[in-house]
Amino acid sequence: MLTTAQSLPEEEVFDNTLRPQAFADYVGQEKIKRNLHIFIEAARHRGENIEHVLLYGSAGLGKTTLSHIIAKEMGVNIRITSGPAIEKVGDLGSILTNLEPGDVLFIDEIHRLNKSIEEVLYPAMEDYKLDIIIGKGPSARTIQLELPKFTLIGATTKLGSLSNPLRNRFGSTHRLEFYTPAEIKRIVLRSARILGVELDDAGADIIAHSSRQTPRVANRILKRVRDYAQVHRENQIDAASAREALALFEIDPLGLEPTDRHMLRAIIEKFRGGPAGIRAVASVIGEEEQTIEDVYEPYLIQLGFIARTPRGRIVTEAGYQHLGLPMPESQREKFI
Ligand SMILES: Nc1ncnc2c1ncn2[C@@H]1O[C@H](COP(=O)(O)OP(=O)(O)OP(=O)(O)O)[C@@H](O)[C@H]1O
Ligand SMILES: [Mg+2]
Repeated sequence: MLTTAQSLPEEEVFDNTLRPQAFADYVGQEKIKRNLHIFIEAARHRGENIEHVLLYGSAGLGKTTLSHIIAKEMGVNIRITSGPAIEKVGDLGSILTNLEPGDVLFIDEIHRLNKSIEEVLYPAMEDYKLDIIIGKGPSARTIQLELPKFTLIGATTKLGSLSNPLRNRFGSTHRLEFYTPAEIKRIVLRSARILGVELDDAGADIIAHSSRQTPRVANRILKRVRDYAQVHRENQIDAASAREALALFEIDPLGLEPTDRHMLRAIIEKFRGGPAGIRAVASVIGEEEQTIEDVYEPYLIQLGFIARTPRGRIVTEAGYQHLGLPMPESQREKFI
């Protein structure tokens, strides 16, 4: 799916090219930037590192980018790893003991750390200590290593999957919001400049509205629209070429693709508008539950087309409207 907010393996270089390097280039998320800026300034003033930071928000909203910027603004190195990559306690041990004082350790998908590793992380975060067990059985003993003072930045798309003890050990927690069309427009205009593409104001507007309020999607669509324009021997993207390209990719003006519409329609037609359980929806549309939860649903919920209830997903009036269908009276009662 072209509008998936998840990063695709072949996109790494492209992502890095367009990644803002400083707060000044990082569009939006004003409250987070303000807070982090204050933390960084204050810490620098005291000659200390900032407290551990937890960033959460949907895929592609800029968590990794923000972590790099924090390290850069603090003038320190960033070490990057992820929850699933740390398989053994020893993996974490070697990462921690190799940090330099002040370094940022970035753990992506931190909700996927396994329990035994989390427990090693607690004292490391709190007291900069690492307990290592040497030997086995009755002769085993624990030695404690001092760690350099570091800042952990954790990123997660699922705050609810993080254990409480881990969550509580962060000095601050920041939720990244979806971007407004005006913000996304600034991002695509900036990206177009970097890529050397001529993009006019109206073209940028159209791309911005189809980008699911997500910078990664915006950049990907820009790239695809550029390819489309170039194939048609145009070096400029305007409203007409943006519209044509998006129609060809079957992306509607709100950024929905056929699968999104298929899912809305399936809940309406097969489950009378819901509530429908995620598993049932998954089997009807032939997608995995995880994909629905991570890829399709967040934006449909953000648009207010789907509501989550304890009994399952319900299509809202706005959802019916988007498909040009009337919402039955009986459906209204489900919201009460
Ligand atoms: N605030 C922003 N301003 C400008 N560009 C941004 C911003 N946030 C993200 N981007 C762009 O979007 C791309 C994706 O951002 P990033 O990789 O930081 O997302 P993420 O939240 O870490 O996603 P994931 O959850 O998949 O790891 C980056 O390459 C960057 O170019
Ligand atoms: Mg990331």
